Amino acid sequence: MTGTDFEHFSRLALARSGLVLKADKAYLVQSRLEPIARALGLPGVPELLERLRAGAPEPVVQRCVDAMATHESMFFRDTKPFEQIAAIAAPELVVARSPGRPIRIWSAACSSGQEPYSLAILMQELGGLLGGRRVEIIATDMSEAILSKAREGYYSDFEVRRGLSPERLKQWFRPSGTGWEVAPQLKAMVSFHKHNLLDAPAGLGVFDIVLCRNVLIYFEPAGKAKVLERVATAIAPDGVLFLGSAETVIGLTSAFVAPIGAQGFYRPCTDGVAPVARQTA
Ligand SMILES: C[S@@+](CC[C@H](N)C(=O)[O-])C[C@H]1O[C@@H](n2cnc3c(N)ncnc32)[C@H](O)[C@@H]1O
Repeated sequence: MTGTDFEHFSRLALARSGLVLKADKAYLVQSRLEPIARALGLPGVPELLERLRAGAPEPVVQRCVDAMATHESMFFRDTKPFEQIAAIAAPELVVARSPGRPIRIWSAACSSGQEPYSLAILMQELGGLLGGRRVEIIATDMSEAILSKAREGYYSDFEVRRGLSPERLKQWFRPSGTGWEVAPQLKAMVSFHKHNLLDAPAGLGVFDIVLCRNVLIYFEPAGKAKVLERVATAIAPDGVLFLGSAETVIGLTSAFVAPIGAQGFYRPCTDGVAPVARQTA
């Protein structure tokens, strides 16, 4: 792997996905691209990088960029955002929205689907509180391969045991082969679409709640800011944004503010002032 070919791929991955690949990630590039090189009948990763620099077909470029993403996820990851949706965001929306209007939630960078299906379970459990309002969950990721897995809604024993209580597993999944399949009523609440967070979210509509978690950690500050500004165009003025526990808007954008006392969630901000009336309880 020559320095020039690695640097070219690193620039390509940054421009296409926002993912930062510095020289200390050479081992990751080697291990993630090795199977692709082999599948293409190439001797190894150096030859694949060389081909990418010479101008490989688009599907090969996309596959290589997608391979650099980390898809780690789990059901009800970090717990707190789900508690805050139940205790703060959902009750607010019930008051603020007319009963005929669906509550719209965006799981941005949804990976293999654990996050959107967790949201679907939560919203089913909140059923009474929502007063019959329909819930639409739009789940997006840049990787078509991981979206296919998410759409299938099939999880191994190991995957369902990460974050799901036995009660939730029993109620919302059915045994299938050696694993578990998500119940049809949850699948019906979620639609999966390919979307790159660096692009304008045109066509996805306006959301009441956005979860964009554990993806910005892989971006450099300019990329994080760009994504947050894109997300700001797709969130209702009284909407709520949840980031991952290691992520923040602070120092990146003025499009969102952290309400005083809030942990891990943000409000859109059009005038630079924290929305006092909508702070945490
Ligand atoms: C670590 S997973 C996070 C999954 C989930 N949000 C969670 O917190 O469990 C990160 C996901 O971000 C996706 N991703 C990375 N860069 C992206 C981009 N530019 N646009 C859309 N998705 C991206 C990856 O494909 C991967 O599935």
